[in-house]
Amino acid sequence: MHTRTQVGIVGGGPAGLLLSHLLHLRGIESVLVEIRSRDYCEARQRAGVLEDGSVALLREAGLAERLDREGLVHGGIYLQFDGQRRHIDFRDLTGGRTVTVYAQTEVVKDLINRRLTDGGTLEFSVTGTEVDDLATDRPVLRYTDAKGSRHELTCDAIAGCDGFHGICRPAIPPGVQTTWERDYPYAWLGILASVPPSTEELIYAHHRNGFALHSLRSPAVSRLYLQVRPDEDIAAWPDDRIWAELSRRFELPGWTLQTGPVLEKGITPMRSFVSAPMRYGRLFLAGDAAHIVPPTGAKGLNLALADVAVLAPALDALLRGDDQPAADYSAACLDRVWRSTHFSWWMTTMLHRTPGADEMEAQLQLSQLRYVVSSRAAAASLAENYTGFAVPTTAALQPVPGMR
Ligand code: FAD
Ligand code: DHB
Repeated sequence: MHTRTQVGIVGGGPAGLLLSHLLHLRGIESVLVEIRSRDYCEARQRAGVLEDGSVALLREAGLAERLDREGLVHGGIYLQFDGQRRHIDFRDLTGGRTVTVYAQTEVVKDLINRRLTDGGTLEFSVTGTEVDDLATDRPVLRYTDAKGSRHELTCDAIAGCDGFHGICRPAIPPGVQTTWERDYPYAWLGILASVPPSTEELIYAHHRNGFALHSLRSPAVSRLYLQVRPDEDIAAWPDDRIWAELSRRFELPGWTLQTGPVLEKGITPMRSFVSAPMRYGRLFLAGDAAHIVPPTGAKGLNLALADVAVLAPALDALLRGDDQPAADYSAACLDRVWRSTHFSWWMTTMLHRTPGADEMEAQLQLSQLRYVVSSRAAAASLAENYTGFAVPTTAALQPVPGMR
């Protein structure tokens, strides 16, 4: 079936879904294709922390009704190391900025719900996604829908929001992209547990057995992570072993980690990756399709949202005949991408134990941690990066003047 749309969007994660909503607010039609089912997308456990700027963007885009009701505002984090747990007070250090704990599953549910209410076209459970003619003014998106019909969509532009393992980035001809990549010699074992959080703020713990993170999803559900080997077998981690190791790494006199039924567990590899430029012809990459950060610092989801806040007005201008914002798109995003890439690398290497590392590594990490909790300048730098930098919210929502 041959059809036409203005913007073809590959991928129904936070980047693709928010982009289709922002385009809709500008009167731009899109078709979004997603290989997974709606249920799968809404249940996939991933990130949990939204920066101030992400919350402002979602709010101004009219997407924050439930976020404002259910999101948990956090004004700091704890850093735990060497037998001490020290608070980093974001409000005090950044002039009032905070982060909000609201799971990626909920962001995705809100976005899907809103797109469908607004009559948007979301095709779940597609197969055989292909993008073609990217260097022309009429790029093509092909896919087979859930009922088995093959579609060919002629577009004005295609947004590759299909994550790290998607098909859009590999569709760019060889030699065009520069990539930077670093794999880390550890992974995170994450659990979702039906137990009230044992802490009112997230705890990032440095321990000689490895890193641990105590986060949460609601007043009744906790989310916790343990550093494990990258090739770790989840079967080797029955629930009792996970709780015992978490208790060890968070141990503090007078404090107890509450345990409870484990609802879900999984292992996530850790990688830093940047591919630039984020545009090839009429293909625009956004979110994990263009860059990956290790999760320490909770930047991945926020970067995905910030990319499409820049992309929506750039596509609007492109469709009206002004190519300049689209030409500037990649550079406009990469500044933030590299800042988050550095911050995530810094948090990761400060807090994780490299397998086989000597005692020098631990001493250097502990020195850095002592510095962060005792120097206002160092703590403010962490707080500024963690709460994030302003997202171009107004530009994302303001119509671009002119004819389309
Ligand atoms: P994704 O959310 O990956 O969305 C891409 C979508 O494209 C997916 O739905 C995928 O099914 C779809 N797709 C792929 N290929 C095709 C195709 N050929 N055709 C159509 N659709 C396709 N970040 C944090 O900050 N904290 C965390 O704890 C954290 N945990 C994570 C755990 C895991 C296992 C992963 C993979 C990531 C995690 N992240 C975390 C990162 C964060 O979740 C991502 O940065 C965020 O999801 C990026 O959004 P996105 O829309 O760019 O990509
Ligand atoms: C969560 C994940 C992170 O990577 C992080 O740094 C903080 C919290 C979470 O899933 O809640």
